[in-house]
Amino acid sequence: MADVVVEVRNLQKTFKRADGTPVKAIDDVSLSVRSGECIVLLGPSGCGKTTLLRSIAGLEKPEDGEILINGETMFSGDQRVEIPPQNRALSMIFQSYALWPHMTAFDNVAFPLRSRKTSKGEVAERVNQTLEMVGVPELAGQHPSDMSGGQQQRVALARALVAGDDLILLDEPLSNVDAKVRDQLRRELVEMQRELNFSAIYVTHDQIEAMELADRIAVMELGKIVQLGPPKDIYEKPSTRYVANFIGTVNELIGTVSSMNPDGSAAVKTQLGIVNVPSEENFPEGSGVVLAFRPERCSISTQQVDGSLNWKGSVNTSSFFGSHTEHHIKISEDISFIVWQADPKQLTHDEEVWVTVDHTNLRVLPFEGHEGVDENN
Ligand SMILES: Nc1ncnc2c1ncn2[C@@H]1O[C@H](COP(=O)(O)OP(=O)(O)OP(=O)(O)O)[C@@H](O)[C@H]1O
Ligand SMILES: [Mg+2]
Repeated sequence: MADVVVEVRNLQKTFKRADGTPVKAIDDVSLSVRSGECIVLLGPSGCGKTTLLRSIAGLEKPEDGEILINGETMFSGDQRVEIPPQNRALSMIFQSYALWPHMTAFDNVAFPLRSRKTSKGEVAERVNQTLEMVGVPELAGQHPSDMSGGQQQRVALARALVAGDDLILLDEPLSNVDAKVRDQLRRELVEMQRELNFSAIYVTHDQIEAMELADRIAVMELGKIVQLGPPKDIYEKPSTRYVANFIGTVNELIGTVSSMNPDGSAAVKTQLGIVNVPSEENFPEGSGVVLAFRPERCSISTQQVDGSLNWKGSVNTSSFFGSHTEHHIKISEDISFIVWQADPKQLTHDEEVWVTVDHTNLRVLPFEGHEGVDENN
């Protein structure tokens, strides 16, 4: 098996809206998926996730770029190659389950095998095996209308797995099932992927799902991949405010770089004074930046902590969430920070406290770009 299963190079796909305005659904995307790897495409509604997946499957025709599967060209704008979907070695699970309503679970799962002219005996064996694997062998004779959402999802999964393709594309397969079933199916999916060792491209706009499933997450914005990396890197080293806000909750303190220090840190002028922050980037003096830090990487204390940054504020709200307590601390008229503490103790409104954060937990990001995004859209 080739080490790289999917290779996408400089892909472009533009749609036209009904009024004729062009929309760049995929804007110069390059991506490679390694054998056995699960890549998650993460981004808000309309950022191009489905279009990228459909282009790889051959259901959308890009204008330009290249798509290779197992080293073979499936699409090339330059060479005018376009291999039809049925000849691409992959299976896809769609955003809606798209089971055939008039067919039983057995016949739905058998469909890809029958269309590949598999013998009757083998079809029966493999369909039963796969239904067993996804945990619904008892549903073989049932029609989709007589199944729960979670059960339909399992059957759809079985249909994608039955042919034993090395590459499976999944477009928000769990978005229609309730939270408990979703958690369980997600864990099962991780196990199945490990066991069967297929490569997967998984689309979601749910960051928890992305963190759990992905070997690498590709964060998308307006048709582009803006950051690609392991979940931990994306969370701890976001390259832009957009990424920092999309994946998790983040506190932001706006400032201007007043100088770069000899040790590589940046001296940033903020409304709360000058802050020295480690920086991987060399920002020109006067650059607008944001100092970003996560709510679990700062803490509340009753006094200043030596060697850390300390900001005095007053408690606005304090809520107990079981796993942690969330405090909203007002530092000034227009600056508030969120602090998550494992300590279940709630604070009283207007109580005076210090928010403390270690310099190394701050990240300097360029100001430009988004104010943050609604992760639930
Ligand atoms: N057939 C089409 N005709 C015109 N525009 C389209 C078409 N399909 C997609 N688009 C546009 O392309 C952009 C990307 O759409 P896409 O379906 O890939 O987004 P998505 O990231 O999958 O969103 P969602 O999370 O809502 O499923 C959107 O602006 C969408 O309106
Ligand atoms: Mg979509």
